[in-house]
Amino acid sequence: MKITYIGHSAILIENHKANILIDPYITKNINAGIKIGDLPNIDYILVTHAHDDHIGDTIDIAQKYNATIICISELGSYLAGYNIRVHRMNFGSHTFDFGRVKMVTAAHSSCLPQKEINVGDSVGFVLYLDKTIYHAGDTGLIADMQLLSRENIDLALLPIGGNFTMDVDDAVYAAKLIEAKVVVPIHYNTFPGIVVEDASINRFLDSGINVLIKKPGDTFIL
Ligand code: NI
Ligand code: MN
Repeated sequence: MKITYIGHSAILIENHKANILIDPYITKNINAGIKIGDLPNIDYILVTHAHDDHIGDTIDIAQKYNATIICISELGSYLAGYNIRVHRMNFGSHTFDFGRVKMVTAAHSSCLPQKEINVGDSVGFVLYLDKTIYHAGDTGLIADMQLLSRENIDLALLPIGGNFTMDVDDAVYAAKLIEAKVVVPIHYNTFPGIVVEDASINRFLDSGINVLIKKPGDTFIL
């Protein structure tokens, strides 16, 4: 399947069954690697939490393509008010027409930007497609990541920007817990406060983890 790192935490997955977006923060991200108009037809949008740099263009894209949003219950109730399709989950797993999704824990808050209204927990997702993908969302290092080693994860998308999430050193530790075949770092160098020095990136590359550094807009086959 084809994976595109749009930038920040935004990922596009295109496989033979569906086109899936995760955390589509695109129009407000000046460093996004693709324009919103260049997206293919989108079937599903997974949203890890309500912060603007994750919910991003979710509502507009869902309306345009009649896509189904997959997110935690309380955020789903808010989004359903926009007359879009929502599939609510709450740390369970569900089999969709494209494959199974498991919602997993993340240590981070989740509130609507306008009013600081809390809308459920922040989450991560495991997607069981032809390969297994873990998108951590925004999270600090958590012991729950040990449980992911039994999922045989092919690709782990881990935040490394620090301050709001894990930094590189915690991401290296997380990667060792998760035992993914490949790790792609996300959620860094998008805006001030989450800038990662080259020296830190090099530490990640030298850690023994199979890390792939992707630039916004880069596409790769998994
Ligand atoms: Ni956040
Ligand atoms: Mn974030």
